[in-house]
Amino acid sequence: MVIQVFENEQQVAKAGAAIIAAQILAEPQSVLGLATGSTPIELYKELVKLYDDGVISFAEVTSFNLDEYLGIDRHHDQSYFRFMVDNLFSKINILPDSIHIPDGTAVDPQAECERFEEAIADANYIDLQLLGLGRNGHIGFNEPNSFFQKATHVTDLAEDTITANARFFETDAEVPRQAISMGIGTIMEAGRILLLATGVGKAEAVKAMVEGHIDPLCQASILQIHPDVTILLDQEAASLLN
Ligand code: F6R
Repeated sequence: MVIQVFENEQQVAKAGAAIIAAQILAEPQSVLGLATGSTPIELYKELVKLYDDGVISFAEVTSFNLDEYLGIDRHHDQSYFRFMVDNLFSKINILPDSIHIPDGTAVDPQAECERFEEAIADANYIDLQLLGLGRNGHIGFNEPNSFFQKATHVTDLAEDTITANARFFETDAEVPRQAISMGIGTIMEAGRILLLATGVGKAEAVKAMVEGHIDPLCQASILQIHPDVTILLDQEAASLLN
């Protein structure tokens, strides 16, 4: 694992965007795995700047998002589809047909998971997967468990994930309890992995991911055995590392 520590969140975002931009410049037809959540928002702003400045084009890029809430329509203002449109896709020249996000309203969620997994294989797999890190060590919505789930699947969200997400919904009843998420196998098949974590709230999860045993109770710890992982941290997220 290559671990880089930056003074602040803005520098983490810039460094992350530079890695993604370099990937696209080297391979304009790159397949990118993308994440939602608070962490990558600044990175997406930096990517949009690079696009506006004519440095990179997304015309030939294909994207796959890690996850989507189950039961949330893509037009819902808290859907991950909407997040991606608002923060990135509406501001760059990626083709609509090149965007892949699990459909949280699929009539048969299991078939949707299989379809998503096949689409990734058909695209010849993900070249560079961007990840955030849950406070409980989750990546995608692979929550602490007794095993690592291989493929894209329907998952129950952990209580602390539900609590963390509650701030985005008006009533408790609206907060999603399930999601469709890429599996750990799906993530590990990516050629390169780029994980960002910022803020003191992530410090314990960062320590477990980097210095702990490989343990499904901290799903991100599996990244220790991926051959090409870059972890970008701010000083707060790195504060418990030896
Ligand atoms: C998002 C995702 C999650 C988040 C993680 C961190 O697509 O899969 O694993 O990356 O929950 O979220 P933030 O960045 O909001 O702290």
